[in-house]
Amino acid sequence: MLKPFIAANWKMNKTVGETEEFIQSFIPMIEGITDADILIAPPYTSLGAAFRLLQTTNIKLAGQNVHYEEKGAFTGEISPAMLLAEGCSDVIIGHSERRQYFSETDEIVNKKVKTARKNSLEVILCIGESLQEREGDKTFEVLDRQLTGSLKDMQMAGISIAYEPIWAIGTGKTATPGQANEAHAFIRGWLKKNKDGAERVRILYGGSVTPENIEILMAQPEVNGALVGGASLKPDSFAKIVKGSI
Ligand code: 13P
Repeated sequence: MLKPFIAANWKMNKTVGETEEFIQSFIPMIEGITDADILIAPPYTSLGAAFRLLQTTNIKLAGQNVHYEEKGAFTGEISPAMLLAEGCSDVIIGHSERRQYFSETDEIVNKKVKTARKNSLEVILCIGESLQEREGDKTFEVLDRQLTGSLKDMQMAGISIAYEPIWAIGTGKTATPGQANEAHAFIRGWLKKNKDGAERVRILYGGSVTPENIEILMAQPEVNGALVGGASLKPDSFAKIVKGSI
């Protein structure tokens, strides 16, 4: 069995002060837990403060995005070196909100994955279908296209996949455990067919994960972790999710 991987994506939430407050209460709640990998992706402005509090723990720190160029005239963007300097070991790439609101295509996502890995950042690559695509029976076609485009010319070392059906994000509508497992099994099958080391890749589920549904989701054979939005914003709720994943 792969070690559970539970990641918090705070999106555009929490100031530096709020970040410090969260981490100070969260650390004692998960003390002694070594059976799950835990990661927090705060906004860029909170990375430094988060790292100062997390560096003596085994909680990993991630950026929510990264640019595909190493440096240059890209106003408002962030480079891999900047994330590394703030203490990040990981980065989330290709989140549906980036694809939807910032026009990230699979080609751009692929360039970001390449630059991140070249700089030794581990990657959580997000994929997932919209409600319209699911209802049109296009889920596997969309996943196939996103995997093919985003992982072009890449090996899987240092990359996890997050399956986040867009219709389940922030809506309170979780995919059923069966739907999640079916999509994860498709992703695993795709990886086995196209990449080496497919059995070592952790596939996380994201979309309205809560302390109440984590156990049943993790009980699915192909679900190896979770990427949590809303329910990761409160320390006790995120700690319960971590504990429920083991
Ligand atoms: P919610 O957990 O708020 O549905 O968000 C999921 C998500 O997008 C994590 O990246």
